[in-house]
Amino acid sequence: MGQDQLEGDAEPELVPGRILVSAEQLAERVAQLGAEITADYSGRSPLLVGVLKGAFMFMSDLSRVIDLPVEFDFMAVSSYGHSTRSSGVVRIVKDLDLDLAGRDVILVEDIVDSGLTLNYLRRNLFSRNPASLEVCALLVREDHSVDEDILRYEGFRIPADFVVGYGLDVDQRYRNLPDIRVVEAAPQVKVVEAS
Ligand code: IMP
Ligand code: MG
Repeated sequence: MGQDQLEGDAEPELVPGRILVSAEQLAERVAQLGAEITADYSGRSPLLVGVLKGAFMFMSDLSRVIDLPVEFDFMAVSSYGHSTRSSGVVRIVKDLDLDLAGRDVILVEDIVDSGLTLNYLRRNLFSRNPASLEVCALLVREDHSVDEDILRYEGFRIPADFVVGYGLDVDQRYRNLPDIRVVEAAPQVKVVEAS
C-alpha cells in the first residue's frame, strides 16, 4: 500500500480529515427533521424509501424521531463512473419490495450532489403512482442542479468537498464514522519493508 503511493501514477489514498458536521449537530438537525415530518404527515403512515447504502444511518436515526407508524423500504442504486463523481447513469441494483401505489412516500437520500441520481429516482418512483412523493436529503451540495422545490426536507447545505461518515463512503469505507468529515489525501509515508 505505502509503496504504491510512491509510484508516480498512483492516486493518493483518501482518508477522513476535518469534521464538517459533528455528531451533535447531526442529532439536533435530524430531530428537527423528524418533528417536521411528524407534523406534516399527522394521521398518515408515510413509507420511508431509503437509498442504499449511503442513507442507512440517516434513515435509521430519522425514523426514530418520527412519531408516526412509518414503514420502510430500500433500494440500491449504482451510478456508473468514478468513485467520487456521479455520472448520472443510474442502475437499480436492488428494487423496492413494497407497492408504492397510493402511498405517501418519503425518499431518504444521503446527499444530493449534482442531483442526477435524485432526478432519476424521482421519475422512477413517480411512475409507480404514489399518493405523494417528497424528498428528505441529509446533505445538499450548494451547487446542485435540481429544482429547489424538490428538496422538501434537507439537513445541511455543504460546499464542494467530498465527505465521508454517517453512512457516506469513499470506496466503501468510513460509513461508520459518527460525524461527517471532509476527505483528504493520506500523507505519503515511505514504507520500508523488512527483508
Ligand atoms: P449525484 O447524482 O451527483 O447527486 O450523486 C449522488 C450520489 O453520489 C450520492 O447518493 C452519493 O452516493 C454520492 N456522493 C456524492 N457526493 C458524495 C460525497 O461527498 N461523499 C460520498 N458520496 C457522495
Ligand atoms: Mg456512494
